[in-house]
Order: sequence, then C-alpha cells, then structure tokens
Amino acid sequence: MDIASTTGIGDAPPEPSPPPLIRREDYAPYPWRVPTTELRFVLGVDKTTVQAKLKVERNPHANPANVLRLNGDGLKPAGVWIDGSLANSWEMDGDDLLITLPGDAHEVSIDTQIDPAGNSQLMGLYASNGMLCTQCEAEGFRRITFFPDRPDVLSTYTVRMEGSKADFPVLLSNGNCTASGEGEDGSHWAEWHDPWPKPSYLFALVAGQLVANTDSFTTMNGRKVDLAIWVRPEDLSRTDHAMESLKRSMQWDEQAFGREYDLDVFNIVAVSDFNMGAMENKSLNIFNTKYVLADQETATDGDYDAIEGVIGHEYFHNWSGNRITCRDWFQLSLKEGFTVLRDQLFSAAMGSEPVKRIEDVRVLRSVQFPEDSGPLAHPIRPDSYREISNFYTATVYNKGAEVIRMMRTMAGEERFRRGTDLYFDRHDGEAATCEDFVTAIEDGAGLDLADFRRWYQQAGTPKVSAKLEHVGDTATLHLEQAVPATPGQPDKRPMPIPLKIALFDRKSGKHHGEQLVTLTEAQQTFSFAGFDESPVLSINRDFSAPVAIEREVADEDLVFLAANDDDPFARYEAMQDLVVGHLRGLLSGSVDAAKRDSGRAAIGEAFRAVIADGELDDLMRGELLTLPGETYLAEQMLVADPAAIRAEREGLKAWLGQSLESDLVAMHERAAAAPGGMSAEAKGARKIKTSALVFLAAGNPDLAETMAAAQYDAATTMTDRQGALMVLTSLQGPQRTHKLLDFYNRFKGNALVIDKWFALQASSLHPSVLEQVKALAGHPDFTLKNPNRVRSLYMPFTGTAQGFHAASGGGYKMIADLILELDPINPQTAARFVSPLGRWRRIEPERSALMKGELERIAAAPKLSRDTYEQVTRSLG
Ligand code: PHE
Ligand code: ZN
Repeated sequence: MDIASTTGIGDAPPEPSPPPLIRREDYAPYPWRVPTTELRFVLGVDKTTVQAKLKVERNPHANPANVLRLNGDGLKPAGVWIDGSLANSWEMDGDDLLITLPGDAHEVSIDTQIDPAGNSQLMGLYASNGMLCTQCEAEGFRRITFFPDRPDVLSTYTVRMEGSKADFPVLLSNGNCTASGEGEDGSHWAEWHDPWPKPSYLFALVAGQLVANTDSFTTMNGRKVDLAIWVRPEDLSRTDHAMESLKRSMQWDEQAFGREYDLDVFNIVAVSDFNMGAMENKSLNIFNTKYVLADQETATDGDYDAIEGVIGHEYFHNWSGNRITCRDWFQLSLKEGFTVLRDQLFSAAMGSEPVKRIEDVRVLRSVQFPEDSGPLAHPIRPDSYREISNFYTATVYNKGAEVIRMMRTMAGEERFRRGTDLYFDRHDGEAATCEDFVTAIEDGAGLDLADFRRWYQQAGTPKVSAKLEHVGDTATLHLEQAVPATPGQPDKRPMPIPLKIALFDRKSGKHHGEQLVTLTEAQQTFSFAGFDESPVLSINRDFSAPVAIEREVADEDLVFLAANDDDPFARYEAMQDLVVGHLRGLLSGSVDAAKRDSGRAAIGEAFRAVIADGELDDLMRGELLTLPGETYLAEQMLVADPAAIRAEREGLKAWLGQSLESDLVAMHERAAAAPGGMSAEAKGARKIKTSALVFLAAGNPDLAETMAAAQYDAATTMTDRQGALMVLTSLQGPQRTHKLLDFYNRFKGNALVIDKWFALQASSLHPSVLEQVKALAGHPDFTLKNPNRVRSLYMPFTGTAQGFHAASGGGYKMIADLILELDPINPQTAARFVSPLGRWRRIEPERSALMKGELERIAAAPKLSRDTYEQVTRSLG
C-alpha cells in the first residue's frame, strides 16, 4: 500500500475529520440479541483484566447481519473465542471490534486489559482515592470491554470480581451477591447476579475500603430490602440524612406512582471524583459525595434539600429508566424529564410545595431559557448529536420535566396517574421512546396530544403576549404565541400552551376561581363576563407552562398581585415582574430620574409589605425577597451589557438596603432569635437572615460587615456560616480576609467544604475577582483532576460581571485556557464550560468580539475531544 497517499505526506497536513453526526432518523434495531453476559474482573488500580462472555443470537426483528459489531473505546482485544475456540475471524474497524459469526447463536468471549488509574475522563472503570468504580452512562461500558453499547440491547449480567482483600475489602456489583470466597496470596472474590435484564449503561462495579450505613425498608407487599450507603470510614457519620431520604423516596414512589422496589438489596456508593451528580445503576447507585454527605456543621440547608432530591431522583429511575429504559439516546428525556418531574413532586411533598416550585422555575429560567435562546438550543428530543454527553442538558432534564408537568396539568392528577400506570404496565422490560410515553398518557389519561407532541420537536422558549381588555361587563384576554427560530429550525408551529389564570376584583382582593385556558393557536381570545370594573389578571399561575409571558402591566397591578395573589408562585412572579420591568426600563434608557424614583418606591413598598406580612412563612418570605438574577435579566434583552446590568441591579439593591435598613435589621434580629434544627421554621429563619445581610451589604457595607462577622462567629450551622461568609467575601473590609482564613483552617481536609471556599471567592462581587480566581488556580488544593474542584472554582466565576465579563477580555481568556487545558484530561467536564462563551451573540459588541475570538482560538486547537469540538463549532455556527 502506498503509505504517502494515505497519510498525506508531501501534501498539506491532513484535516482531522470531524466526528460523525448521529441522527435520530437513522435508528435501526441491533441485529443480535445478547441474552446473557458474564464478566470476570481481576482487579488492580493500574491493571485490571476483563473477560467477557456473551451469549448472542440473531434478532428476528432486525435486518440480518453476519457481523457482530461490538463497540470499544481505546481497547485492544487480547483474545477472541467463539464457542470456546480461539478465533481469528475478527477485525478492528476504528475502535470497534467486528466478529463474523456463521450461525444463529454463539458464545463469544473476549479478553481485554485496562488501566483504571490512568482513566482521568472518569468514564468506564476508574480509580478514585484508591477505590475502583465505574461510570457507564452513556457510552462508558465500551471502555471496559467490547459490547453492543447501546441502550436497546438488554442482557442479564453475572459478574465475578477478584482482587486484593486488603486493597478492596468490599466488592459490589448489580443485583445480589451469590457467592464469595478467599483466594491465594491475600486475594478474595465475589460473584454478583442481577436477575433483571439491563442495558450496558446500567452496569456498575465498586471495589474499595468502604464502610456502610445500613438500614432496611419493607415494601408495600412486604419485601424486606437491605439498604446500605457505602462511604470512606471518615465520612460515615454524615450519611444519616441520605439514608432517611432514601427511605422516604421508596415510600413516596409507592404512594404517588404505585412503584415498588424489585430486589432484596439497594446499595449507594459515594465517590469524590465524579463527572455528574449521581448515577442510577441497577441496585448500585453511584453518587458524587456532594449528594450524599451532610451534617449541620458542613452542609447547608440547600445541600440537604439537594441530597434529598438527588437520592429521590436516582431511586425513581429504578422504574423510570431501568425497568423501562430508552430505545436510543435521542429518547434521553423519556427517562430524565420524567424522573426530574418525579423528584420535583417528591421534594415538594417533603417540604414546601410553593417554595420548591419557585426554586425549580428559577433554575429553568437561569439555565434552560438561555440555552433555548442560544446556539446550543435543541428540542427536548434532539434530532442529532456528535457526542451524547453534550445532551445531558437543562433542556432534556428540566424543560423535559416541564413538558410532562403540562400533561399532568391538563389531565389533572388522577387521570395523569392512570396514564403513568398504563405507561409502566405497557412498557415494563422494554427500551421505549418518548412517543410511547405520550401515547400511554394519551390513552391512559384520555387526552388528545396530537399537537402537543410539537413540544418534543421544537426548540425555543415560546413567547406569549397577553393583553386584557375590559368593555361593559366583559373582560377579554387576547393571547398570542410565537416560538422563536432556533438553529436548524427557522419556522415554528404554534404549540398547545396550558395557562392557569385568575381575574381579581380590585376591591375585595379576591377572584372567582382559577381557570385553565389552553392557547392552541397563534392568536386566540377568551372572554369572561361579570366584571363591572376591569379586573387584575394573574396569568401562568404556578408556572403552568414553560413560556415567557410578555405584557404591559401597571406597577400598581403588580404591587396588588404581590400582596393579594393566593397563588404563591404568582405572588413571587409579580415581585419579579416589578423588578424586571423597572430594571429593563433603566437599562434601555427609556426611564428618567423621576420615573426611576417612582419605580423604586413601588418596589420598596412591595418589599416592606413582604417583610411585614405575618401570614407568610420565612422560607416563602426569602423567595419573595430574592431579586431576579443577572442571567435572567440579560435574557430579557436582545443584546446585554453585563456591566450595566450589574450596576443597575446593585444600585437597586443598595437603595433597598438603605431605605429598608431598619426593617432588615429587625428581620435579621428576629430570625437570629429563632430556634435551630431542621424544621421549616428554622430553615426559613436562616434563609432570611442571609437575605437581610445581602441587602444591607449593598446599602450599608460597614454595618453589614459587623453583622455578618457576628453571624459567622455565632454560627452553629453551615447555612449561617456560609451565608455570612458569602456576604463578607463580596465586601472589602478586614473581616473578609479574617473569615476566609478561619473558614479554610476550620475545614481543611474536608473536600466538599473546601469546594465551597473556592466557590464563594469565585462568585463574589469583589472588583478583583479575576485576579483572585487566577491566584486560587495556583492554590495547592486546586487540581484539574477533580471535577467538583474544577467546577467550584470556574463555574461560579462565569457568572461574574466584573470577572468573566471584564472589559479586558481576561475572564473569557481564562475560561478558554481552562477548556484547552482540561480537554485532554476530562473532555466531558471541559465541554461544559463552552456555553458561557457561546452567549456571544447576545452580548454588547466589544465583549462579543472578544468572546467569539476565544471560541475561535479553541476551535483552532490541533486536537479537540468530540465533546469540546461539537460545543465549540455549534457555538460559532
Ligand atoms: N443518569 C444520571 C442521572 O441523571 C446522570 C448521569 C449521566 C450521570 C451521565 C453520569 C453520567 O440520574
Ligand atoms: Zn436522571
């Protein structure tokens, strides 16, 4: 063969070919079935050998093929056997192994060898603090052995692990431990069998020096399930909250969805090196330590809530994900959207329903809305990808949950339950599609979802403009929807949008009942008789649809709703609208000084009412006192100037801090006297203490510094301590340095708390945040190898107007440098940092050019991972 012609020697250097585009419409069933899979591991941190034995048979429902294509990623087969004989009828195609099989059923065995310690991507089998663990979703199993690594190939797994008893005293895999014993030279082994057929992405193995918090749960039909949470010995005392959360999840899923657990054991393992939050491997969930470990001294109330939510999420996947899995990765929202909805409903039931709803909407608006209006916009069921890891997004997860929530709203709780019962019943044991889900809800709940399916096809946040007219005794609501163009989707069709509304009587402050109107056309009007006076419109109550409402509304109506609306979400929304409208006016220059003062006065009046309202619980009060975030404000503008947004928002904060100073100080004092503990009351008190400090810090920095330092010193919880330190970190007084040092020394060695120490500094309002983050990157505790540490320093930084968006471009350069340095180590985590730069089209021209320049610099790098390549090219395209 002519080497020169294939390598391009003598020509221009070869262009690396872009990673292939995978399309949803190209789906074809796999030609083979794999009824059983046997895996034998001889474990070592630097060298692990894997023997895989697969029973394969032809799939009668697929186009026949004589070749068995097994996916691999960086593997070499050390030997291939067919029906017990060493075979040579195989070849490599790139990373894949192709084996030609003569008959209809065979036993194929393959030996491979891997290096867990060298696996810095944290996909496949890797080492973390001396222990071994796996992460296989989405395509990590192919880094362990050759396999049809796709979710529609279900197999029953038997796993044998052998290794040093001293290094790996605990050996875990999916299902039940069926046998174990001692070997020679201090080795031991264990065999595990999982009776439930599963796709390879749900395989898991853990080996290490772990101890367990154990408990049990008895299911509704009397099955006793042994529960264990495995951690390093020094972490054992911080696992009780996770265990309680697990038991509550198991019980709630029985009550709310009729789902019972289906094995005798359920294990959770906490690892400190993990790319995501947690993973739902069948009966062996693997968690980021962040979502397991908590005690009052080291975890905030927010951390406690997040742990409960993620424990629930992974547990709920046992049915929505494992018993019914996905046909292909385009269907990811089938399991993720539904499971997020399930975890949201669970958390709401365990705590405050309205507060949980507000928090969920805040995440949607600050993360998913920008995604939906930027270059990475995609439908909840995407049409194509190059790297599936890039599609574990707020759109697939959170908008996916909102879409299913709308079906629930339209059907009502009871009928929706009939729909989900039918779905679980009809598709149990299958690899299903989003279409299967919608059809089951349609059939079970008795809904017509023909047009509603467009929510799965079309990207972009719909804009709904609403106008209320009043003539005679009739109020008429004019609604209009527009779904914006998104990459690859220039033209959109109207989608059914369920909007909960109420019309308030101005005098009584009451309404005549909430109604659900569904906007199905581009434009529609709805009339309501019986109003002598023009009513006040409350719309998209409970955030019944994930849309942006645009309407002209008088400040006095918003002040009215903020005080009177009986829907807590709508009350919060009125406060947000009041502030957004005010700041938008200032930022567009359409507001003069006199109007600014009247706008501030209206906001101040609403805030004072919220502080004084004796009916409100403090958790809700804290929500109502939260100003809309800078990203959400930027989202309101076609092109945003981050510095101007910061200045106006801080200006308002300072004004509120000054004009409400005595109310805020009194609120702080009252809350500081509240009892501790984990009751809603105690959590609410802690929340508003820090809210008070946030406003006071803007209005009266010296007073806030004294109060925050006192709160820090008196703190018995991480919530109080972190809240105080957050405020101090954004100030410039001497207490900043004192308390940061104290915090570091106090928690040295506790990785999760040191993450907070990095994050607080990286998110601060301090003018030198860019230099500070640069210095922290050189701190001995900083490492690019641990994703939690990387995220804790750089993610909060991308939200800083004065740092990331520094006019010099230094912040953009810092993130681009990070991406380039991290990409060869951990591409999945590196690619997550592209989207902040991808906002360039929506930022004022000078910064925009700098951001684009950094993206181009990344794109020009000689070798990029598929992950980063895809995100950068989409961001520039
Ligand atoms: N499936 C996990 C979840 O949402 C997320 C995950 C994806 C974890 C990929 C690791 C890798 O529950
Ligand atoms: Zn999930």
